[in-house]
Amino acid sequence: MSDPIVLGIETSCDETGVALVRGRELLADVTASSMDEHARFGGIVPEVASRAHLEAFLPTVDAALAAASLDLADVDVVAVTAGPGLVGSLTVGSAGAKALALATGKPLYGVNHVIGHAAVDELVHGPFPERFIALVVSGGHTSLLRVGDIATDVVELGQTLDDAAGEAFDKVGRLLGLPYPGGPHVDRLARTGDPEAIRFPRGLSAGKDKVRHAYDFSFSGLKTAVARYVEGCQDRGEEVPAADVAAGFSEAVADVLTRKALDACAVDGIDTLVIGGGFSANSRLRELAAERAAERGITLRIPPIRYCTDNGAMIAALGAALVRAGAAPSSLELPTDSGMP
Ligand code: KG4
Ligand code: ZN
Repeated sequence: MSDPIVLGIETSCDETGVALVRGRELLADVTASSMDEHARFGGIVPEVASRAHLEAFLPTVDAALAAASLDLADVDVVAVTAGPGLVGSLTVGSAGAKALALATGKPLYGVNHVIGHAAVDELVHGPFPERFIALVVSGGHTSLLRVGDIATDVVELGQTLDDAAGEAFDKVGRLLGLPYPGGPHVDRLARTGDPEAIRFPRGLSAGKDKVRHAYDFSFSGLKTAVARYVEGCQDRGEEVPAADVAAGFSEAVADVLTRKALDACAVDGIDTLVIGGGFSANSRLRELAAERAAERGITLRIPPIRYCTDNGAMIAALGAALVRAGAAPSSLELPTDSGMP
C-alpha cells in the first residue's frame, strides 16, 4: 500500500496552518497569519488569535486541498496540534480537526507542537538517522530533545526556565525601540555591531548551574543585563550603542544554545543536530551552529525558514511518523493541553 495521505492542522498560536503530506512527501502547505492584527498591540492577543483561526480554518483547509488537487475524501488521516499553545487557539483547530475526522470517518492523531518543529525536517532532508538531538527555538519554546523514533521516543533533555529565545529577542527589540516582533530587527542590527564590544552573561552555563541545568536555558537575566546597560547609558546621557548591544546580546544567546546542543550530541555520541522553530532564522545562531558542528564532525540539519515558523507541514509530518510507527489514533474526545510537556 502506498503511504497514507495526512492532513495536518496547526493552530497553537497566531498561524492557521494546513498541509497535506503523503509519507515524507509534502503535497501542499498553506498558512494564514493574524500577526498583522497583533503587531498593533505589541504582542499576541489570545482572543484575537482564536477569532482569526475560526475565520481562517475552512478557507485554509480548502486552499490546501486545492493546492494538492485533492478532495477531502482522499485524506486518510487527520493530524492536529493538541498542545502546547494558547488554549483558545488550540481549541479551534482541535474542534475543526475532530469535525473533519468524524465527517470523513478517518482516524485522528493529536500531536505535540514542539516535536512537530523537529519532525518537519524529514520532509526536507529525508529520513532521520537512528538518533539525533533537536534544538527547538521560537517565540514560545526553547527545548533540547534527544530523539530516537520521532513518533515514539523523544526525551526532553532541557528547556528554558523563563523566556524563550525569540521572546528575549522581542523584549530586547522593545528596549532598543525597534518594532514588534523585534527578533528579526535585533538580528539585522546585530550584524552591524561588534559582538565582543559588550560581554553579556551566558545563563546557566557556569558553576553549580552548569551541572544542575546542563541542558536548561535562562534568558531573563541576560535581558535584565541588557536593560541595565541601556539604562546606564541613558542615565549618563550617552548614546546607546544599539548595534553593539544587539550584537553582544545575539552572541550570548547563540553561544549558549549551540554550546548546549553540541554538548548533548557529544555526551550521547550522537552525530546529527536538527534545529527547528521560528528563531532558527537568527543569523548568528545559524553561523555559530554551522561553525561548531563542522568542528566536531556533526551533521547539522535546519529546514528552510518557511518550515521553521509555525505551519501545518510540521503537524502532518509528525502525524505521518505516528502512522508509520503503528501508533494508535487519538479518541475524538482528545483534550487540548496548553501546557503539554
Ligand atoms: O516559531 P515562531 O514563528 O512562532 C512561535 O511559535 O513563537 O517564532 C517567532 C519568534 C519571534 O519571537 C521572532 O521575533 C523570533 O522568533 N525571530 C527571530 C528572528 N526571526 C524570528 N529572532 C531573532 N532573529 C531572527 N532572525
Ligand atoms: Zn512553534
